[in-house]
Amino acid sequence: MRRVITYGTFDLLHYGHIRLLQRCKAQGDYLIVALSTDEFNAGKGKKCYFSYEDRKNMLEAIRFVDLVIPEETWEQKVSDMEKYHIDTFVMGDDWTGEFDFLKDKVDVIYLPRTPEISTTRIKSDLGTV
Ligand code: CTP
Repeated sequence: MRRVITYGTFDLLHYGHIRLLQRCKAQGDYLIVALSTDEFNAGKGKKCYFSYEDRKNMLEAIRFVDLVIPEETWEQKVSDMEKYHIDTFVMGDDWTGEFDFLKDKVDVIYLPRTPEISTTRIKSDLGTV
């Protein structure tokens, strides 16, 4: 069984997220999503509309997602690969090259983002940022 992991915030879940998760799952058999906690986001100066628990519940309702774990630090990626027996690490191509240091442990894949949609854009269009 091939195990895949991806990391992200997934606030105001949208079709760009769903397409990303669908393509992540297609890389293997079991998909883990490491979901940024509210505390981790605060450290990045980012505030989510939906709480961690609400974002987690929504992700768990998606059929491509098998397990949601918390993303609490930048450093946890290396230990997560071993802890969760990961074969493939996937991120959107806004992160191209950033996680190549994991290549000695797992396959690292950057998938093209879906054009024109983002959490930032939704907030902007609705006038909340
Ligand atoms: N993603 C994607 N296509 C989009 C938006 C996001 O493939 N149109 C991917 C990102 O590349 C990332 C994952 O979905 O791998 C989670 O992205 P996240 O940063 O939570 O969503 P964004 O909509 O990009 O949020 P923001 O505008 O806050 O950056």
